[in-house]
Amino acid sequence: MTVSNESTEETPTTADLMQRYVMGNYGRFPLAFSRGEGSWIWDESGKRYLDFATGIAVCSIGHCHPAMQRALREQSAKLIHCSNLYQIREQAELAQFIVERVVKQPGRVFFCNSGAEANDSLIKLARKFGHDSAAQHGGELRNEVITCTNSFHGRTLGGIAATGQDKVKHGFTPLLEGFKHVPFNDSEALRAAVGPKTSAILFEVVQGEGGINVVSQEFLKTVEELRREHNLLVMLDEVQCGFGRTGRWNAWETAMRGADWTFEPDAVSWAKGMGGGFPIGGIWASERLAPGGVDFRVCDILGPGTHGSTFGGTPLGSVVSLSVLKTIESENLIENADRLGALIRSTVTGWEHPLIREVRGLGLLIGFAIDPDALAAKVPAFAASGQTPSLFVVNRLIEAGMLTVPAGPGVVRWLPPLNVSEDEVAHALNLMRGALDALLNP
Ligand SMILES: Cc1ncc(COP(=O)(O)O)c(C=O)c1O
Repeated sequence: MTVSNESTEETPTTADLMQRYVMGNYGRFPLAFSRGEGSWIWDESGKRYLDFATGIAVCSIGHCHPAMQRALREQSAKLIHCSNLYQIREQAELAQFIVERVVKQPGRVFFCNSGAEANDSLIKLARKFGHDSAAQHGGELRNEVITCTNSFHGRTLGGIAATGQDKVKHGFTPLLEGFKHVPFNDSEALRAAVGPKTSAILFEVVQGEGGINVVSQEFLKTVEELRREHNLLVMLDEVQCGFGRTGRWNAWETAMRGADWTFEPDAVSWAKGMGGGFPIGGIWASERLAPGGVDFRVCDILGPGTHGSTFGGTPLGSVVSLSVLKTIESENLIENADRLGALIRSTVTGWEHPLIREVRGLGLLIGFAIDPDALAAKVPAFAASGQTPSLFVVNRLIEAGMLTVPAGPGVVRWLPPLNVSEDEVAHALNLMRGALDALLNP
């Protein structure tokens, strides 16, 4: 293995090369990785880390799972790319699995390459719905989408306009018009925001970047009522929380646990864990009639020529994604996510650790809210660091041999692979407990 973390004249370090040739649009940790296996990842010097970041919820069945390797190997020897000008069997089979086994409601799927692109597709779906409804019934053109504050919907112009956080919008005016943001889980504010131009509501079932905030059943009930009262499309961003991460195939199913009524979205976006590391995204849209007495189905709104993506649903991408979803099913990883997620949350809650204010999340999408006052009062190194509480703790966990991700300034996020073992969870809990205790007793 080439060890390139020490720069010489002939072999610059990876960080040197990045600095010289790659745009500086990310704040990166000074780590470079060269190998992964299961829940583990090795840096270029050979140091091993327990990977509870998983590329931010991407490597859903761990690093380099044999099923993914096989799918890549076999399909890459058959057919890698085929244009959407033609019929693509592999794409159709992936869509069939998603409709029948994942969503379990009739509908159709559109494939793309990323979460932002999937959300742009939802936004186009909502706009076209408004246009087509007006064309059929007259009335005001509805072209406004309501989203939530603290949300994150991606970095395209559509994504940043939809995102309810000012920091992603700075410097990019004029923004795409037609969005209103309401506080997450605030039913009254949502009700008040719906107006004659509203065509859709879009939100994350669990806000990931916003700090691991889970939607309430009360909010979902209000959404469902508003759908009926105002003929709106209900669109869910499951880019981070979808495909088994929350302990059900769909995060809205987990959020609805125990409810005596049903919640059915009109459309859903995905990416991240969908390909286990292979870039693929998509949206599902329901086969039911679009609301408002129109005669078209939600899944037919984006008809021929209205939308597309060169790399969406290639034979290779589709076969790899299907291998990931079938592995989640055949290895019972949804049950694993549910069980180990509950174990992690109850264990850390039981610590009553002075540096942890709250534990939240669903399944293996878990947030630990760090107590900023306790950190400032008890840990002198924190004040000296100039870092946010979440980044400071994430850095301590890296030193301990574990990767996690900040979710906003105050929350440390765990996103283990869905096939993480109980031993690995126990190891991670020990590492975090040790790192937090060491901060209090250096
Ligand atoms: C909920 C959510 N939506 C959309 C995105 C954007 O996805 P991508 O980076 O694949 O464009 C993300 C990425 O973090 C996300 O968490």
